[in-house]
Amino acid sequence: MKNQVKIEKIIKPFNKIITVSSDKSLSIRCVLLSSIAIGRSKIFNLLDSEDVINAIKTIKKLGVKYKKKKNFVEIYGVGINGFQIKKNTILNAGNSGTLARCVLGLISGIENKIKLIGDNSLSKRDFSRVTKPLNLFGVNLKSKNGTLPIEVKGTKLLKPINYYEEKGSAQVKTCIILSAINSPGITRIKAKKSRNHTELLLKYLKYPIKIKESRKYDQIYIKGLNQIKSFEYKVPGDISSASFFIILTLLSKNSSLIIKNININQSRSGILKILYKMKAKIRILNKKNYRGEYIGDIKIKSTKNLKSINCPENLNTSAIDEFLLIFLIAAKSKGISIFRKLDELNKKESPRLDLALKFLKMIGIKVIKKNDIIKIFGNPELVLKKNFHIKKFLKDHRIFMMSVIAALTLGGNWKINDKDSIKTSFPSFLNITKKLGAKIN
Ligand code: S3P
Repeated sequence: MKNQVKIEKIIKPFNKIITVSSDKSLSIRCVLLSSIAIGRSKIFNLLDSEDVINAIKTIKKLGVKYKKKKNFVEIYGVGINGFQIKKNTILNAGNSGTLARCVLGLISGIENKIKLIGDNSLSKRDFSRVTKPLNLFGVNLKSKNGTLPIEVKGTKLLKPINYYEEKGSAQVKTCIILSAINSPGITRIKAKKSRNHTELLLKYLKYPIKIKESRKYDQIYIKGLNQIKSFEYKVPGDISSASFFIILTLLSKNSSLIIKNININQSRSGILKILYKMKAKIRILNKKNYRGEYIGDIKIKSTKNLKSINCPENLNTSAIDEFLLIFLIAAKSKGISIFRKLDELNKKESPRLDLALKFLKMIGIKVIKKNDIIKIFGNPELVLKKNFHIKKFLKDHRIFMMSVIAALTLGGNWKINDKDSIKTSFPSFLNITKKLGAKIN
């Protein structure tokens, strides 16, 4: 069957150095921020995936010029309030929640009507989380049940807001920050901790943004209507993409791997903290600071005696995209692992939490979910022999890739549908896996 992979053998021991695809969150932010900078920005290592291509198509529709060069892309920003759009413009965010939610903040000052649409999976996701603060700014938004399609009519008379972002959503926080940039005066956000790439980029660009950090929350103050200078940026590797190979190595026999140049920003690298607690053999080499982001090489060794984890809730947001993999590791670890308050996972590209628990049960792992507590009963001896078919997961790229890692480490005969889903975030995933020696048809 086209668009399906078959895996019938676990991967043989490997010892390699790889790079993975560039950071998706940073790539989308670089595209959006350079569109409102003044003049030509140069972005090196921009992720070449569907979500980022949709971000580029979006800014082009807003009147921003873009050129692809050999080693970088050029984006000719038009400055704040500089977008030029045609009548009845439709922006299509495809599968990208980050693009769709952040762009709504970016266009809050445009007075012409714009329609925002997305693919089948994105059209099932919640947008009330961004329409609520945008309404307070004075933006007019029309949608049925808080989902896409949304009709937006911004205003030149935006009012700065005071907002409490309590979900720990970086998409919501970025949407508000971008709308704050379009608004006169100071917008204040009390934000539950979440990835902070937008703030770090704006600080690097010397934009007037102040952040007061405390353990659980950040107080963010943004002064609107200051122009941003064009910039150069080299996007590091994505820890969410690296995580598939971290888990592959930990669960394989006698293997070791170095993954070069990964963004290990604290607000993103919860998976490393969780894996250290589970006694995984991981080290960070060549750590350095790049424009506020921490970057390093991750060295991983196969680890036999992984321990279960009682996962602290405060690591949830910094590992939010990695829980499918963390559950897989918990399934192969000694003891009962406990996780709490992960319902936000059901609001991702698919109902990821429900599907993950179904997956674990399918491979014979005992799982109990009671209210918002999940218990996974690990089995270090787990070896699979049966046939498995992974289908109907709303083409969620992370479910596809996690299933491939499970097939390559646990045994059994696997058919996994919707291989094309990797195009959204990590198009070279299967090629890298094959370079490590995996047999995939
Ligand atoms: C992202 C934020 C997270 C994450 C998503 C990317 C971002 O979503 O799951 O993959 O780039 O801001 P939420 O902000 O909704 O938690």
